[in-house]
Amino acid sequence: MTCPKIFVLLSLSVLLAAATAAPPVTLRQAADKAGILVGAAVRPSLFSEPAYSATLAREFNMVEPEDAMKWWVVRRDADTFDFRQGDEIVAFAQAHGMRVRGHCLVWDHNNPEWLARGHFGTDQMSQLLQQHIIRVMQHYAGQVFAWDVVNEALDEDGRFKDSPWYNRPGIGLAGKGSAYVEQAFRWAHQADPKALLFYNEAEAEGLNGKSDAVYAMVKDFKIRGVPIDGVGLQMHIPGLDFDTSQISPNIKRLTALGLQVHVTELDVSLPIGSGGSFSKDDLQRQAEIYRAIVRACVENPGCTAIQTWGFTDKYSWIGSHSHGTRGGALPFDRLYQPKPAYEAMLEEIARRSSR
Ligand code: XIL
Repeated sequence: MTCPKIFVLLSLSVLLAAATAAPPVTLRQAADKAGILVGAAVRPSLFSEPAYSATLAREFNMVEPEDAMKWWVVRRDADTFDFRQGDEIVAFAQAHGMRVRGHCLVWDHNNPEWLARGHFGTDQMSQLLQQHIIRVMQHYAGQVFAWDVVNEALDEDGRFKDSPWYNRPGIGLAGKGSAYVEQAFRWAHQADPKALLFYNEAEAEGLNGKSDAVYAMVKDFKIRGVPIDGVGLQMHIPGLDFDTSQISPNIKRLTALGLQVHVTELDVSLPIGSGGSFSKDDLQRQAEIYRAIVRACVENPGCTAIQTWGFTDKYSWIGSHSHGTRGGALPFDRLYQPKPAYEAMLEEIARRSSR
């Protein structure tokens, strides 16, 4: 009499085990299981396109505004703050249970004309920046969990770049290296003490002069108690001959300081062939670069987020940035079909979740 019950129980547990062992079928499922964030930069004007929204909500558990929280959108004129585009992103994320990563508060690019061409003194610049950081971060407090406070402050040799915030005219700390960066982090921490604060940099993925300078700056910040939580490594990979072997050691030395690393702007652009198509070989080699980068992140517990800069080749900054010579940089094609790069990302994130 008890036999059938045991059978039922046994078959139930077999079914349950099979269900739990089923491999994740989306990036988001794999990432949730691995306890990692997988994100994409987004444009709120595209949320009305059903395939765009559906793919985004299905595949990612984090979004970041591609432009919507930058100065040139939020501060079209000096006296007002326009949060409409950023708010749309927050609303989309909340509706789909996603995190929002903020980008960016201090950068020498993507500033409005009135600021870039204005004739302000250093005191005015300092006031403008402090007010901006406080207003924007307080508006999004509790909604944006992490911010790129300062973006791309260094040149390829690791020297501080000319910038309205550093020396043109700067906020009063010109010639003092990282002092203006430090000041921005201190204001950001005051504005929203709960937000994670990141320094975000381009072309500092491997070991080179620039990544050495990033490392030296953030190490000094950690030692002196400057409020910084992490480093964003952009990862706009410009070619298929990119050496990925030094990414892991770079992530390792940064996380060894007690900082998190986020891969913030991953894309791997391809040369556009005649007819606008990409060779099978190139797509495969692209996938291997994606694989190596995602692996370097997931194998280090301090690397807590992987984000692509857009997600469909239909909408990517690479086209205009390369004047139409490169493209195909993202994990989904123009029709929202997953590419080999997508499969590589999924496999590597799922590997971590199955540990
Ligand atoms: C790019 C956006 O994708 C474009 O839409 C915009 O015209 C220019 O900026 N590094 C960054 C991003 O930190 O903010 C940049 O985004 C790409 C390079």
